[in-house]
Amino acid sequence: MTNPEATKTAPAKGGGLAGVVVADSSICFVDGAEGILEYRGYDIRDLAEHSNFEEVVFLLWEARLPTASELEEMRMQSRACRYLPPEIISALRNLPETAEPMAALRSIVSLLSIYDPETEENTSEAHRHKACRLVGQMAGAQAAFERLRRGLEPIKPRMDLDHAANFLWMLNGEDPDPLAAKALDQYLILLAEHELNASTFTARVTASTGSDLHSAVVSAMGALKGPLHGRAVQEAMAQFLEIGSEENVVPWFEQARGEGQRVMGMGHRVYKVRDPRAAPLMQNVMKMVEASGESVWFDIAYRLEQVAMADPYFSDRNLSANVDFYSAPLLYSLGIPLDSFTCMFALSRIAGWVAHVYEQQSNNRLIRPLSKYTGEHQLPYIPIEERS
Ligand code: CMC
Repeated sequence: MTNPEATKTAPAKGGGLAGVVVADSSICFVDGAEGILEYRGYDIRDLAEHSNFEEVVFLLWEARLPTASELEEMRMQSRACRYLPPEIISALRNLPETAEPMAALRSIVSLLSIYDPETEENTSEAHRHKACRLVGQMAGAQAAFERLRRGLEPIKPRMDLDHAANFLWMLNGEDPDPLAAKALDQYLILLAEHELNASTFTARVTASTGSDLHSAVVSAMGALKGPLHGRAVQEAMAQFLEIGSEENVVPWFEQARGEGQRVMGMGHRVYKVRDPRAAPLMQNVMKMVEASGESVWFDIAYRLEQVAMADPYFSDRNLSANVDFYSAPLLYSLGIPLDSFTCMFALSRIAGWVAHVYEQQSNNRLIRPLSKYTGEHQLPYIPIEERS
């Protein structure tokens, strides 16, 4: 089974702020019963089909779609934001080969704040510059990290490529395959934003203290790293690898159920039907399969979904494939190492985190809830030598 420790950390029933509305927001609409997801009122399926990541970033940050000239300006600005300070390249070189990729990327984002010329500036212009640099630099740092741990030199970004294609270029040092670049672009769009998920809520809590954008993103990355959130995509792929063949899906599933194991990539706090992002992600996996002829991971995932959906345990609890289920074979087919899957999630979700930090800053009140105290009161202090 995949990492049993991960599944022991599930939140207690009734806790976890389930169903509690804590903010007004015009960024993202999720209807968990109908399986609807909209960014600023636009259906995610339309955005995945017709838009690109840069345009979606503009939409999330500016609350409207850009005109052609605004999009072109956004493209040019984001390309200019891709360069990493030499100190960051040195820091990446000094990371041990064993560094866990999300820990590495989270640390690099923290370090980027030290070298950002506007870290402590609070104007909207400075925020926009920092956010643009974060999107470009996080992707550059992730690609450089991967190359360095493979014993290869980091590659400079290209100014003629959009974000997804440029990432593949910086990772592989080859002209990106258009199909792979399109699949990655759609992945980045589909995961860019998702209302008050754990990492976004964390970013808003940090922003509400008046702290800086980099700090909000570092906090969010810490939350994303957990196996019930961003790391589930890695666990889902580990599970498909462990299953190994389509024939082994049923025996594996029966054993997993018998052991009370969670199926990673299934279930969602909000969606009670199939996650609307699963279908476009699945279609992209199918396109990659068609091009490569390598279908084993898709076949396993597809069969596992069918087997789970036929099990009353899953249907009774409304557990369906979530965003991670088909993100896993997609990232795998793009050649992303398993332990970096969560980092890919972060390269996309940075767009949503920034939008929420802006929204929090625009109408801020410190987020400071209460807890109901369940401990004891007025205990007599016992000197240490008298304690048993
Ligand atoms: N496999 C088997 N059983 C499950 C699963 C699963 N994947 N997910 C939930 N359950 C069961 C759980 O055991 C519980 O059963 P019972 O009522 O008998 O105690 C019931 O369903 C409700 O679970 P819960 O943990 O109370 O529900 P939640 O809303 O707190 O958790 C979740 C949502 C996403 C944490 C959970 O479904 C899960 O652990 N899924 C697997 C991990 C995963 O794929 N996470 C990615 C989430 S989507 C992307 C993201 O947020 O990053």
